[in-house]
Amino acid sequence: MTPFEAPSAARPVVGWWRDAVVYEVYPRSFADSNGDGVGDLEGVRHHLDHLDALGIDAIWLSPFYMSPLADGGYDVADHRDVDPLLGTLDGFDALVADAHARQIRIIVDIVANHTSDRHPWFQDALAAGRGSAARDRYIFRDGDGERPPSDWRSHFGGGAWQRVADGQWYCHLFTREQPDLNWDHDEVRQYFLDTLRFWADRGVDGFRVDMAHTLVKDLAAPLRSQPDLDLHLPLDGSDPLYDRDGVHVVYEGWRRVFDEYDPPRAAVAETWYPTNARTYLYARPSELGQVFDFSLQQCAWDRDQFVAAIRRSLDDHRIAGGGLTWVLSSHDAVRHPSRLALPVAVRPDAWLLSNGTAPHIDPQLAARRGRAATLMMLALPGSAYLYQGEELGLLEVADLSPSSVHDPTWERSGHTVRGRDGCRVPLPWTRAGTSFGFGAGGSWLPQPATWGACSVEAQTGVIGSSLEMYRAALHLRRRLQVADDEVEWQDSGVGIVHFRRANGWECIVNMTAEPVRVAASQVLISSRRLDGGLLPCDAAAWTHAG
Ligand code: NOJ
Repeated sequence: MTPFEAPSAARPVVGWWRDAVVYEVYPRSFADSNGDGVGDLEGVRHHLDHLDALGIDAIWLSPFYMSPLADGGYDVADHRDVDPLLGTLDGFDALVADAHARQIRIIVDIVANHTSDRHPWFQDALAAGRGSAARDRYIFRDGDGERPPSDWRSHFGGGAWQRVADGQWYCHLFTREQPDLNWDHDEVRQYFLDTLRFWADRGVDGFRVDMAHTLVKDLAAPLRSQPDLDLHLPLDGSDPLYDRDGVHVVYEGWRRVFDEYDPPRAAVAETWYPTNARTYLYARPSELGQVFDFSLQQCAWDRDQFVAAIRRSLDDHRIAGGGLTWVLSSHDAVRHPSRLALPVAVRPDAWLLSNGTAPHIDPQLAARRGRAATLMMLALPGSAYLYQGEELGLLEVADLSPSSVHDPTWERSGHTVRGRDGCRVPLPWTRAGTSFGFGAGGSWLPQPATWGACSVEAQTGVIGSSLEMYRAALHLRRRLQVADDEVEWQDSGVGIVHFRRANGWECIVNMTAEPVRVAASQVLISSRRLDGGLLPCDAAAWTHAG
């Protein structure tokens, strides 16, 4: 076997998503084709060759729909049209066609918990007044005197109720520009079934379901109080807002729509909170098929944390029979190399939660650990979700000035939570030039002056670069990945993550401070060069026993 052979051209269609590598494109920050400083769909199309060469199976496009951008596009004003800033429907069709020509599938985001306040339904609700049918599509309630109807809180800080001119309040789990929909309403349910068909008819291969666990709420009067909202505690179905059993009926209906197509459309649920067995219910074959497992994002650079998280996810996922997924980075999290260079005692999301005083990290250490973690994730069974720029080894941009911050959490938290802009800085494509090739008109978030050295141009063909490691690993993974979900743990000592897959493929990660000996007949790839059979610290290798 030659480890770096090109992948076979055709991939099986049935259940393609089970072991797919999906690459998240945050369109505003990927590439800007028209020089307005904001990335767009045409920019994605221009760079499909990069994604093809990388060896991904699918692109997940974060929202590109009509949006006033109160929350980076997750405030959708029209679920069936492209925002003019990002392109047109014809341009979207061209992107799908060109991606498919390269055997790259397209997943789009479905944001169904809320709409933008500019959505015609919400405008109607405001105009129609209290008690109207238009208001019933959202969650309008009378307050308790001058106080909001309940103690529900917004994810972005502050209360989850906003008062309107006639004195009623509406519920918003995110910004006040994102009113929550009433999922007890038939018209709301039908609208999203039609929206799924709209995109599936255009050739979309799958859907990423935003806030999948919040659609159905306990809205019975009197509204129940919300227990402490702690993103670090798993859900148990008792919260009035999150993970209600009734939400699964919605996804059974969605599955029936997905199965109208050949091949059936795929879907992945986003649910925040640590993964537990309930999380995987969303991934049942009768529902969405996949749910994001964010367990790896909760781990510091610590062998025991990673092994415990992986074991738990493997156990939890067996209960539901759906697909397994892994995520290290996304548009909502601190980029994983930076996160993993933090001391073990620091919360992994410390930067998001801080007011901007980022802890110091060593960029070399971050780069080493980031790559090692990637090799570990890619060796696990199931599907892996990558986030744009991680192939370049980009670090979190930690020093954005308050005037550059766009994330609504900054304002809503009274300038105490910096938010997610640090992982959304536009990509560098070239060593030099305006915005390092992102676009001719600069970039909507400032890029670090050093980013030319991380660009695609600077890393292409460079042995030992992050980009070439990702390319090699992804191509190799296509040949090695097996359907078997078992992981056989190897005891290789304190601080060493070591597991073997059914076909003899092994992954060993050195989380100690010393080099460790790798006993294998064949080293397929490593994140740092081995020296005399020794794997350096903060490094990972794939080996084969055969
Ligand atoms: C989850 C998305 O990933 C995040 O970016 C967004 O702010 C919220 N959902 C609200 O839609």
